[in-house]
Amino acid sequence: MNRVRIAPSVLSADLARLGDEIRDVESGGADIIHLDVIDGRFAPNITWGQPLVRAARGVTKLPLDVHLMIVEPDRHIEGFAEAGADVIGIHVEADLHAPRTLTRIRSFGKKSSITLNPQTGLESLDYLLEFVDQVLLMSVNPGFSGQKFLPSVLPKVRALRERIDRLGLAIDIEVDGGVDDITAPQLIEAGANILVSGQTVFGSADRAKAIRMLRGDGS
Ligand code: DX5
Ligand code: ZN
Repeated sequence: MNRVRIAPSVLSADLARLGDEIRDVESGGADIIHLDVIDGRFAPNITWGQPLVRAARGVTKLPLDVHLMIVEPDRHIEGFAEAGADVIGIHVEADLHAPRTLTRIRSFGKKSSITLNPQTGLESLDYLLEFVDQVLLMSVNPGFSGQKFLPSVLPKVRALRERIDRLGLAIDIEVDGGVDDITAPQLIEAGANILVSGQTVFGSADRAKAIRMLRGDGS
């Protein structure tokens, strides 16, 4: 399996210092910057939209992983592609026509990601895997940083890893929510290869150390 990548979520960053915060985790070894777009309808919080993605694009060369927690995501794909996203993810629960939206994401030369809430079963991927470059499994209910990890995602990661490997597909498995020193090694062992982290990275004084710890590189 390829190297584990760490994607700090700027939902836990000091937004008044966004550029410095992103540069800090980039120099600390982050692989990806994770940007949570929440509309207050799909999930109970309101964050930001394309302008913040564009601002982040201006301060880092790292891939931008845009996690859309919005209703009708198909209406906003072009905007996020133009703003500089590299990966655009939609929730399977938010789109009745996911194959079309995922194909649209790819048509802009972006990686497509499908996200599953904790309660959503893997069978929801049955007719979607050919359209995705990444599956994001939520390990908290979407909306906020700093929530408690739901351990039921562990067997879900394992089953998805087995399925992807059996089919010989090159699909990343990303996990988001409550990733910390206890849960990161469990997720890696189960087969996740991208870990999102809000609090554990941005809540640490030494972000480089937190990133190494999550990746399992020791401290
Ligand atoms: C939650 C977001 C996450 C969040 C993770 O809806 O999708 O990306 O920022 O934060 P932690 O790692 O603190 O659970
Ligand atoms: Zn997220």
